[in-house]
Amino acid sequence: MKFFLDTANIKDIKKAKSLGILDGITTNPTLISKEYLVYDEKKIIKHYINICNLLEDESDLSVEVISNTYIEMIKEGKKISKLHPKIVVKIPMTEDGIKAIKYLSNNGIKTNCTLVFSPLQALLAAKSGAEYVSPFIGRLDDLSYNGIFLLKEIMNIYKNYNFKTKILAASIRNPIHISECAKIGIYAVTAPIKVIRTLIENPLTKIGLDKFLNDYNKKKY
Ligand code: E4P
Repeated sequence: MKFFLDTANIKDIKKAKSLGILDGITTNPTLISKEYLVYDEKKIIKHYINICNLLEDESDLSVEVISNTYIEMIKEGKKISKLHPKIVVKIPMTEDGIKAIKYLSNNGIKTNCTLVFSPLQALLAAKSGAEYVSPFIGRLDDLSYNGIFLLKEIMNIYKNYNFKTKILAASIRNPIHISECAKIGIYAVTAPIKVIRTLIENPLTKIGLDKFLNDYNKKKY
């Protein structure tokens, strides 16, 4: 399973990269707004390029458009994609968004269809030619729907029609989300660094390690 980091924070990206398990980055307008107090287009562009330069060969960075009409999304998508070859253009699941995904993918620009909450939205994303679809499972769970169940439905639909769109499970809130994704064979998850850390830590590992070292050190060889 691929691990993406859901952040625009360079320090977090460097930390995840040092673990050797980083397959890509996803950002969104909220995440980028956390990095800057004032909007500065030049700085933000440089920021995206810096992130791309930190990534390994097969990895990519999803950058979301902030426009919401077909024409503007295409214009912005083309501009974003020219910044760096590792950039995938993130487009929201709207009527204009679907048209923009179709146009961009027909023109060789990879897209990530974001803000997906239903199997039918995911079906449309795949039919439009999206490289990735991002179902937001945590936000569904927050409303008492079942995010993992949605992923299973999307996997089933994609299998029925042999769609090549990759499922990138998003809005990951906890380690259970990640283990459930792994059990059903999801292509990738995108999570904040604090969730990735919870995969490493276990109190029994710490207790066990402390005891091993304690036993070893109290003996005089
Ligand atoms: C995905 O691409 C989004 O950036 C993200 O996962 C949203 O997660 P949130 O629900 O924690 O904001």
